[in-house]
Amino acid sequence: MSVKGGLQRLKGLYKFGEFHSRIRGKVFVNKRGAIQVGKNLTVVGHPWAVQITSTKGANLLIGNHVYINAGVGIAANKEIVIGDNVKIGPRTSIFDSNYHRMDSADKGELSKKITIGNNVWIGADCTILPGVTIGQNSVIAAKSTVNKDIPDNVLAGGSPAKPIRELTIEDGWVRE
Ligand SMILES: CC(C)(COP(=O)(O)OP(=O)(O)OC[C@H]1O[C@@H](n2cnc3c(N)ncnc32)[C@H](O)[C@@H]1OP(=O)(O)O)[C@@H](O)C(=O)NCCC(=O)NCCS
Repeated sequence: MSVKGGLQRLKGLYKFGEFHSRIRGKVFVNKRGAIQVGKNLTVVGHPWAVQITSTKGANLLIGNHVYINAGVGIAANKEIVIGDNVKIGPRTSIFDSNYHRMDSADKGELSKKITIGNNVWIGADCTILPGVTIGQNSVIAAKSTVNKDIPDNVLAGGSPAKPIRELTIEDGWVRE
């Protein structure tokens, strides 16, 4: 399905991505909380559907020129901020809640804010865990699990993800 001009016609997604978004395939949106989207969002909902959730009281902010590939799941239970020019590879999960307790001693917060900086590229099959910040321009290698903050301008990878090397980022460079 291609919806020119945004996702307004999809159930629960009124005023979502109204500025020239390109939405293809199946995109399931559960909008009980806030969802704010910038210009030129691309969502590829095939061959795997994309799931985008904002639960009651949660905030999901998606910047300009963001690319969300097939099979991606994004679920905000508290807050997820995705910067401008962020590219998210196929089957990656960005969930800001653990949803379940580890054991009876686990009384901590289940949901913690996730921040993904401008120009970040997250490869395929990655998991971004609650509470994490990924610094601007950084790249998360395929199949990584990000459970701790990643600084700006690095390639990071592995499970758990660690910085591997510095990237060369010129001023004003934009990830395409
Ligand atoms: C991140 C990526 C571009 C790195 O490519 P690269 O050319 O191998 O990068 P480098 O040569 O600088 O690799 C540096 C180190 O990172 C390691 N590395 C690369 N990818 C890795 C990964 N996915 N997980 C763990 N380590 C990884 C390399 O083995 C290398 O380690 P070494 O120095 O010990 O040999 C590539 O591995 C990747 O993950 N691409 C994502 C592709 C993708 O998901 N596409 C979907 C469309 S968005």
